[in-house]
Amino acid sequence: MKKVAFILLLAFGTALVLGTVALAEDKFPQGCASCHKVEGDKDYSLSAEIQKIKGHPAIKANDVKVCMGCHKEGKFAFKKVLHPIHLNSQVFGPKLGGNCLSCHAMSPEGEMSVKGL
Ligand code: HEC
Ligand code: HEC
Ligand code: HEC
Repeated sequence: MKKVAFILLLAFGTALVLGTVALAEDKFPQGCASCHKVEGDKDYSLSAEIQKIKGHPAIKANDVKVCMGCHKEGKFAFKKVLHPIHLNSQVFGPKLGGNCLSCHAMSPEGEMSVKGL
């Protein structure tokens, strides 16, 4: 009887540890680039996305640092425009499982940043 209890405890403990590891796993370690890339015959790269935005200046870059050159402040600041685009999307959250921490990172000290910036 004692042995069974021990084995159960061991199994439970292992499941708990594995579960925690699975929760901590980052599906989008590269932030924007983890989703905005070429997939098969579809081009979701940032440079391809902006080609679809009417009136957008022609930019070849895929690096969010380059975007921030124009999108730090003002009407089109990323801190205003990027949140609704993603958080109201039927694809970003519901289909891909994206959330704040897909774009943002937290340092061991608890400070938030944007991955790649
Ligand atoms: C988890 C995946 C994911 C991550 C991470 C992500 N995106 Fe997106 N992004 C999407 C999806 C999905 C859409 C399409 C939204 C829709 O139309 O439903 C999108 C749309 C866009 C668009 C098109 C907007 C438009 O008006 O057509 C741009 C630009 C964009 N994202 C930039 C970024 C930038 C910059 C980052 C990083 C700071 C980023 N994304 C991070 C999934 C992601
Ligand atoms: C040289 C300046 C410049 C750079 C660099 C730039 N943008 Fe833009 N972006 C603009 C301007 C100007 C607009 C407004 C276009 C308009 O509607 O007339 C805009 C609009 C947008 C919008 C639409 C916002 C909205 O709500 O309508 C998105 C999304 C966007 N840019 C994404 C990007 C991404 C992603 C990058 C980097 C790959 C990038 N931009 C780099 C100047 C720039
Ligand atoms: C698609 C990527 C993306 C997602 C998802 C996202 N953010 Fe952001 N967030 C950004 C970017 C890019 C900035 C602008 C950073 C900058 O200006 O340096 C930003 C800026 C911010 C800021 C700073 C605003 C300010 O005034 O300086 C806060 C706070 C923030 N995000 C919170 C959140 C929270 C909370 C969530 C989830 C509910 C979230 N973000 C989801 C990309 C994202």
